[in-house]
Amino acid sequence: MKKYGLIGRNISYSFSGKYFAEKWEREGVKDCSYTIYDIEKVEEVKKILEDHEIKGLNVTIPYKLDIMPLLDDISPEAREIGAVNTVKVMEDGSLVGYNSDVYGFRSSLAPYLESHHNRALILGTGGASRAVAYALKSLGIDFFYVSREKKGEDSFTYDELGEAHIKHCPLIINCTPLGTFPAVDNCPAIPYQCLGEENLLFDLVYNPRETLFMKKGREKGAVTVGGYTMLQLQAEKSWEIWQ
Ligand SMILES: NC(=O)c1ccc[n+]([C@@H]2O[C@H](COP(=O)([O-])OP(=O)(O)OC[C@H]3O[C@@H](n4cnc5c(N)ncnc54)[C@H](OP(=O)(O)O)[C@@H]3O)[C@@H](O)[C@H]2O)c1
Repeated sequence: MKKYGLIGRNISYSFSGKYFAEKWEREGVKDCSYTIYDIEKVEEVKKILEDHEIKGLNVTIPYKLDIMPLLDDISPEAREIGAVNTVKVMEDGSLVGYNSDVYGFRSSLAPYLESHHNRALILGTGGASRAVAYALKSLGIDFFYVSREKKGEDSFTYDELGEAHIKHCPLIINCTPLGTFPAVDNCPAIPYQCLGEENLLFDLVYNPRETLFMKKGREKGAVTVGGYTMLQLQAEKSWEIWQ
């Protein structure tokens, strides 16, 4: 049996178990299992890994940074991003960390990008925003962070945002959890009235499929993309890494 799983906190809602079960059924992959490990402290992962049948783990909130000191090696990409969401257990038992969020984001954004989407606003400054920033750099797209607190030269607070920012940065990416089920009436406090057809709104939130952020953008003519495809693509990338 090859065992895989997800570590995180308060993750009973997780999509990953069902996703991999359906994938393995569809593709005729035998003798694999996927377990949700809802743990209170990242150190509990050591106990989990005493099971030598475990070949790989996904890592989610709040352990994407905390897992890093427990690993033997980290891919250059994950090291630069500063977050790991996939751990591979090597033949000799050593642990290597990767980041598949960056692949998931870049690949799901790519079909919607047009030449005028050359500057972006990244809403939020958590783990996911680091992977998004890394992907934007690789695509040659300049960006500014938007945060609840001023965080330096290349960041704005929500209060500071006006029409000029929205026109200057047509691509807007929600990397906050705002709008996630069940709090679906929440959305980031950007000036939605300034949005138009030239804007592309990408929401990392994947439940619901259309968030209030996306709905408000769509109503102003913006193109909108939800986080579900990114979620699927990062899971596929994790599987590829484990193989
Ligand atoms: N679709 C996918 O495949 C995928 C992959 C990864 C993550 N995600 C989703 O992306 C979201 C962010 O993930 P994460 O790991 O970066 O989370 P996180 O580390 O908790 O950070 C989210 C950031 O959002 C901002 N924020 C948090 N609460 C807020 C509030 N009440 N109002 C305004 N801003 C708030 C904060 O930035 P400031 O303090 O700077 O304001 C915070 O650093 C989650 O919903 C996660 O599920 C989706």
